[in-house]
Amino acid sequence: MPVPIIIDCDPGHDDALAIMLAAGDPAVDLLAITTVAGNQTLEKTTLNARRVCTVAGITGVPIAAGCDRPLVQPLAVASDVHGVSGLDGPRFPEPTVDVVPEHAVDLIHRILTEHPEPVTLVPTAPLTNIALLLTRYPGDAARIREIVLMGGSTERGNRSPAAEFNVQTDPEAADIVFRSGVPLTMCGLNVTHQALATREVLARFEDLGTELGRTCAELLTFFASTYRTLWGFPDPPLHDPVAVARVLDPQIVHCVEANVVVELHGRYTRGATVVDLHRYVDRPVNALVAVTLEAELFWDRMVAAVAALGRRSA
Ligand code: BDR
Ligand code: CA
Repeated sequence: MPVPIIIDCDPGHDDALAIMLAAGDPAVDLLAITTVAGNQTLEKTTLNARRVCTVAGITGVPIAAGCDRPLVQPLAVASDVHGVSGLDGPRFPEPTVDVVPEHAVDLIHRILTEHPEPVTLVPTAPLTNIALLLTRYPGDAARIREIVLMGGSTERGNRSPAAEFNVQTDPEAADIVFRSGVPLTMCGLNVTHQALATREVLARFEDLGTELGRTCAELLTFFASTYRTLWGFPDPPLHDPVAVARVLDPQIVHCVEANVVVELHGRYTRGATVVDLHRYVDRPVNALVAVTLEAELFWDRMVAAVAALGRRSA
């Protein structure tokens, strides 16, 4: 039986491919896509989710807009990484799918309440919507099978020496989620940096010979250019689909148990995830922390999902 999931995202180049992986792979049942401010403003990330669904032929999956800013601090978007649109690179047709007239948090709550089995949440963005859900509807914690998120890192950051973008953008929200007691898997930079979109990977998307395959190659080409300029990466890491991959086949992403806390006060480290891999402290384990990616399996699944969607939308 496919695993029922909801993606909470801020598309975003890698979010776009995470949506495609979730919609195109038969191992998961994508129940909804919710958006939040992060890589760009809420207005832009929501438009981008509609664009992605339109171009990938994803219909019948409700899209709902959520929080337009972090819980405490002001929003700082990532135009330097994802461009002014949040999804620079390809030209997108006018979206033909719309949003539902419901706040993302209420839509997630309704699905959790109505679905016959617990649902997995896959946040690939700042955790504002998820923190709000857990605060506003505390009973929902029991209805969530697990939260498998992209965020944090066991080592380096990408918005400061210590902090990763999704956690650093809304540290208070991340703190609520990590302390919630809901089973949690963290796919941080340490593992997503193993998902490198090399030239060979780009060629695999192009060689599909579909419009969607070309769109993916264009998205990755833009993403590659910013990663080269900002961080000197020869090939860009495709963060967000790694969290989806962990849900559709846990063998693709290997994890270890650890205590993870979010630094809220550090003068230089606010927004860092402090991951106790070596059990230095006696705080209890509250997360599975992804450490190793089976990169070949990952790309096979990613390309297959885009191929399946391309066939459907052709
Ligand atoms: C995360 O930040 C965003 O820019 C990406 O979409 C990803 O979710 C990586 O740090
Ligand atoms: Ca993202």
